[in-house]
Amino acid sequence: MSSFWTLSIVCGLMLRVSYGALNTHYGAPRTTVPYQMGTKLFKEEGIFNYSTMLLREDLGVLLLGAREAVYALDIDDVSVRKAVVYWRVTEDKQKECTYKGKHAEVECRNYIRTLHIVNNTTMFVCGTNAFSPICDYMTFVNGQLRLEGKQEEGKGKCPFDPFQRYSSLMIGSDLYSATSINFLGSEPVVLRSSDLSLRTEFKSSWLSEPHFVYMDFVGESFESPDGDDDKVYMFFSENAMEYDFYSKVAVSRVARVCKGDMGGQRTLQRKWTTFLKARLDCSLPEPSLPPIVQDVFLLENEDWRKSVFYAVFTPQSGSSQVSAVCAFRVSDIRHVFNKGKFKTPVAVETSHVKWVMFTGEVPVPRPGACINTVSRQMGMNRSLDLPDKTLQFIRDRPLMEEAVGPLTGGPLLVTSGALLTRVVVDSVMGLDGRRHAVMFIGTENGYIQKAVNYAGEMFIIEEIQLCEKPVPISTLRLSSSKGQLYAGSELGVVQMPLSNCSRYDSCTDCILSRDPYCVWDFTPKLCSSVHTSTAIQSLEEGDTMPCPKPDPVVAENFLLVTENNIQLPCQPHSNLAQVMWRLSEQTLHSSSKYHIYSGGLLLLSASDSDAGLYSCDSVELISGRAYNRTVAVYRLHLHSGSEAAGSTTPIYEVTNSVQSPNTAGPGGSDMQDPLSPENQNDPGKVTRLEVAVASLSLLCLFLMGLLLWIWTQGRARECFKLAKRPGESEAKRQSAEYIHIQNRTSEINLQGAEHRAVDFKRNGEQNISTLEGLGFIYDESEI
Ligand SMILES: *[C@@H]1O[C@H](CO)[C@@H](O)[C@H](O)[C@H]1NC(C)=O
Ligand SMILES: *[C@@H]1O[C@H](CO)[C@@H](O)[C@H](O)[C@H]1NC(C)=O
Ligand SMILES: *[C@@H]1O[C@H](CO)[C@@H](O)[C@H](O)[C@H]1NC(C)=O
Ligand SMILES: *[C@@H]1O[C@H](CO)[C@@H](O)[C@H](O)[C@H]1NC(C)=O
Ligand SMILES: *[C@@H]1O[C@H](CO)[C@@H](O)[C@H](O)[C@H]1NC(C)=O
Ligand SMILES: *[C@@H]1O[C@H](CO)[C@@H](O)[C@H](O)[C@H]1NC(C)=O
Repeated sequence: MSSFWTLSIVCGLMLRVSYGALNTHYGAPRTTVPYQMGTKLFKEEGIFNYSTMLLREDLGVLLLGAREAVYALDIDDVSVRKAVVYWRVTEDKQKECTYKGKHAEVECRNYIRTLHIVNNTTMFVCGTNAFSPICDYMTFVNGQLRLEGKQEEGKGKCPFDPFQRYSSLMIGSDLYSATSINFLGSEPVVLRSSDLSLRTEFKSSWLSEPHFVYMDFVGESFESPDGDDDKVYMFFSENAMEYDFYSKVAVSRVARVCKGDMGGQRTLQRKWTTFLKARLDCSLPEPSLPPIVQDVFLLENEDWRKSVFYAVFTPQSGSSQVSAVCAFRVSDIRHVFNKGKFKTPVAVETSHVKWVMFTGEVPVPRPGACINTVSRQMGMNRSLDLPDKTLQFIRDRPLMEEAVGPLTGGPLLVTSGALLTRVVVDSVMGLDGRRHAVMFIGTENGYIQKAVNYAGEMFIIEEIQLCEKPVPISTLRLSSSKGQLYAGSELGVVQMPLSNCSRYDSCTDCILSRDPYCVWDFTPKLCSSVHTSTAIQSLEEGDTMPCPKPDPVVAENFLLVTENNIQLPCQPHSNLAQVMWRLSEQTLHSSSKYHIYSGGLLLLSASDSDAGLYSCDSVELISGRAYNRTVAVYRLHLHSGSEAAGSTTPIYEVTNSVQSPNTAGPGGSDMQDPLSPENQNDPGKVTRLEVAVASLSLLCLFLMGLLLWIWTQGRARECFKLAKRPGESEAKRQSAEYIHIQNRTSEINLQGAEHRAVDFKRNGEQNISTLEGLGFIYDESEI
């Protein structure tokens, strides 16, 4: 018998997992850490848009650009302001800007958008300056921030529009920037401001309404066998030219230029001769238009070939809530540019142009290639020496035929819920000496998700509510040496440690967290980040075998009053765990008698025969293995006068005032009634609850059957949405509950985040409400 139950539980878990896999397994955070009071935060009254950050570990400061101000914050505690310099627009500039039709208080201000290192003491800083961008040098000397007053034109180095995404990079004294160069924002460029400035052609085949998100440098000349040059890679989305659609479709791109590019002699004079772009591929589980790249981070490796770009993608149609992270190896991108085929435009009909694969002969030296050994052997030492044929080819065909595919063939992480906004990645050494890439991903509602991918299995270690208000995370910076993460938003800057192993207080918790930063140390018996000889870790397996057996849970005595509804709380130890109830070793299932939800067990209309020992196990499936931990044990005994009533806690009982208004018994009427007043006044509610429970259980079964059917039909995704809808609309009737459901499905509702019923015991007095029951059942129907 017990093996049957074990089987059914494991099957249940399997179903849940395989079902998840059908949905390409949307990642759900294993644990949720709510906003913590005392989080290190910086903001200044009246200053907004803390969107630009520069870490200067050498100076011990985090430089922070906001609206009309630059701060130097203590790198160890961002709430400590070391220095500030204000950089306000002049009244004239602001007036000029408003005359041109811009909003005086929103757009006609100076938003600091650029901060780069120049040398030991000096930074390069630019601001939008009321749609008239300017740049300056800034020093941090003797604890003072000072603008040098060497103002220079910022056109092309910094956007005009404070809302426009852009990207820039400083290499030596050269500034690479990708933004638009005019007031209207209609002339996009990739620009190098240097002694020999270069830019892109104003042709839509080069850039078509792009949104630049990221730029970085890869030193590919290092030990290059073919005498290759260093590169600057950039990431953006733009209007697709390769698809035949009637409406505009955006695609994500990676492009690159060579550092040594000097432009052409006649063709492409003062323009890039090495600008090549390719489509970035990261397929979301839902068939849709190509996803849009939102942010990128380069995780550098000593061998640049193994360096990897991590990119966050979100859907381009507004309705979907699915985001993904894909990783792209530098060597794969390079392969597409160096060896791939080109696309070429062909005219079809009169005005329409179609881009197809170029099949003709590609000139030598290869168009778009950096100057390398091959071209040098041909007597071409600079891009200025390149033949017109090569240059004309690349001027008309900057797009590669092939797309760059992700490292693992698919996304490293897929989430459904609040969209992902920014990503940074840390490379962490595990106890076994292997490195793991830990992603810290900002969301549009002020959370950080900390995720890893263990051999193809995506795993979100935790989600941390970093901002008190649900604001989008707009900047992320990571300091591996300090072990800190810095997140900027409109409202302020927040700092958090990359790990807090002390949150896990048992060996099992520590191991099951599978956090590469954390090990369990047997000698001090704590979860810590220090690798010692007495420490253990099990990242890919989550194997808790070496952990000592947890102490048995002490049974709590509960009073059973017949015909009352009795609620036994039980909180699983992780969002991924499922609660299993046993009554004297018999597994309980939701039925007309028992209602099992994630917060506990509701025993409906108790009778004498319900007395007994109830155990709640939290079962979590990790790497295909079920981990089973008893969380709570209750002894329900009959209310029979002489029994030790003193040791009994009756507070979780729910008076069933409908069916038995007078049978609650003498004890019952004195009992603390956990139902809220409105529920008491409406005696019909409990009956309705029961009906709802019963009918929804049926629906749940039906949905599971349906899902199985869908599974076999291989069409789970579309229908999943349909199946979920009624639950949502039902739940919206009561917003608090809506939030709860959303939480469980990890579609976190922002406004209500503070109401989250994380700890059931704390909310015990309010107890269960009608819709809570509905909510959880719908929830379980999704399992
Ligand atoms: C740093 O760069 C600035 C601007 O180029 C220059 O004026 C200054 O002398 C440099 N300082 C040092 C210490 O190199
Ligand atoms: C920068 O500072 C480092 C250490 O303080 C020093 O070794 C180096 O010479 C400085 N460089 C410049 C350009 O001042
Ligand atoms: C700056 O922050 C304010 C206040 O949150 C917001 O209304 C505004 O949209 C932000 N502006 C930009 C350019 O992000
Ligand atoms: C290229 O450089 C080589 C060696 O530095 C030199 O011999 C040759 O003349 C140069 N060619 C041109 C076209 O400048
Ligand atoms: C780590 O977590 C513990 C327990 O939740 C908390 O008390 C402590 O403040 C946290 N430490 C940091 C640095 O956030
Ligand atoms: C969990 O452990 C308890 C006690 O060892 C056992 O009775 C129960 O059947 C187990 N549950 C599962 C799902 O394996």
